Amino acid sequence: MFGAEIPIIQGPMLGASTPAMAIAASTAGAIGAIGAAGLAPAALGQTIGEIREAVGDKPFIVNLFVLDPAAPDPAEVSRAMAALAPWRAELGLPEQAIPNKWAEDFAAQFAVLVETAPPVASFTFGILSAEQCARLKARGTRVVGTATTLAEARAWAAIGADAICASGFESGGHRGTFLRPVEESLVGTLSLVSAVRAQLGLPVIAAGGIADGASIAAVLALGAEAAQMGTAFLLAEESAVSAPWRAALAGQDCDSSRLTRAFSGRYARGIENRFMREMAGAEIPVYPIQNALTQELRAAAARAGRADMLSLWAGQGVHALRPGRTADLITAYWAQARATLADTAARFA
Ligand SMILES: Cc1cc2nc3c(=O)[nH]c(=O)nc-3n(C[C@H](O)[C@H](O)[C@H](O)COP(=O)(O)O)c2cc1C
Repeated sequence: MFGAEIPIIQGPMLGASTPAMAIAASTAGAIGAIGAAGLAPAALGQTIGEIREAVGDKPFIVNLFVLDPAAPDPAEVSRAMAALAPWRAELGLPEQAIPNKWAEDFAAQFAVLVETAPPVASFTFGILSAEQCARLKARGTRVVGTATTLAEARAWAAIGADAICASGFESGGHRGTFLRPVEESLVGTLSLVSAVRAQLGLPVIAAGGIADGASIAAVLALGAEAAQMGTAFLLAEESAVSAPWRAALAGQDCDSSRLTRAFSGRYARGIENRFMREMAGAEIPVYPIQNALTQELRAAAARAGRADMLSLWAGQGVHALRPGRTADLITAYWAQARATLADTAARFA
């Protein structure tokens, strides 16, 4: 896919993927991606330049969140800050100040994408306009839209996307859902990939629960052009995952994760912990408000080694996690996928 030799995409992961990881994945023959939603426009341009210089003409993906400017209700912000105050006190943090900005400005980030024209751009949390999609395509950038339902995939097809990233509910990190409430958008990877492929005629990238070579083989057999893996790279040497988060991933299995809004205001899948449980009844403002309000808390929890207050994003495939260099993980996953495809063909020949 996109000219890569190996149909594996190292998923974009804000807070976990790094330029070094993307460079390693693309150089190894797969497709690296950078979760760039948290980058200010200048840093975004710089990062794209850095990756391009390192990988030459190999494909890589730059990923952004499609967000409208935040317009929080001050009373709601005060209530959210009050709910977080005891957690901050537990970590010895001072009283919370209102953040300078809630999120990076998507319009400004998008302008950088058009200017720098990376080989592939992928989007989540929302959808581009047909005009925005056409602007990127006119610059030679392939556009991938993240969909968590068939209706979202259709919406991306209608605005001219080149491919759909079909993200099942197994996926780690945030749900990309943008049309219906999350509770109505929990389609599994196998069903979503096969439905999107059958109905839309666009290349499909399968994402969610693809944790090893055998599951890569499964989605390729289903007709996906590539498997996007996020959780499977969390323990990579190049990942930005903090020490307590890494430690918390050990020994987990497919039952360990939950969907929660507690950390960011948008549903995301991670290992269940005390913050998730105790904040379950609290009033939580929508993304990016809660995300910005918990940022300092999460950073302090990571420094203090407090996994009970930290977002421990991981998907249902967490049991298969292994450490190693990104390039070695890709080589191992792809070798196992090919062996699985050959074994399966032989078993049922
Ligand atoms: C820690 C973490 C952060 C993520 N951040 C992003 C992101 O910034 N943008 C995005 O489109 N997907 C993001 N994802 C989703 C991954 O790119 C990928 O689609 C997903 O992890 C696939 O499911 P899996 O975790 O079961 O492999 C994130 C996933 C994780 C685990």
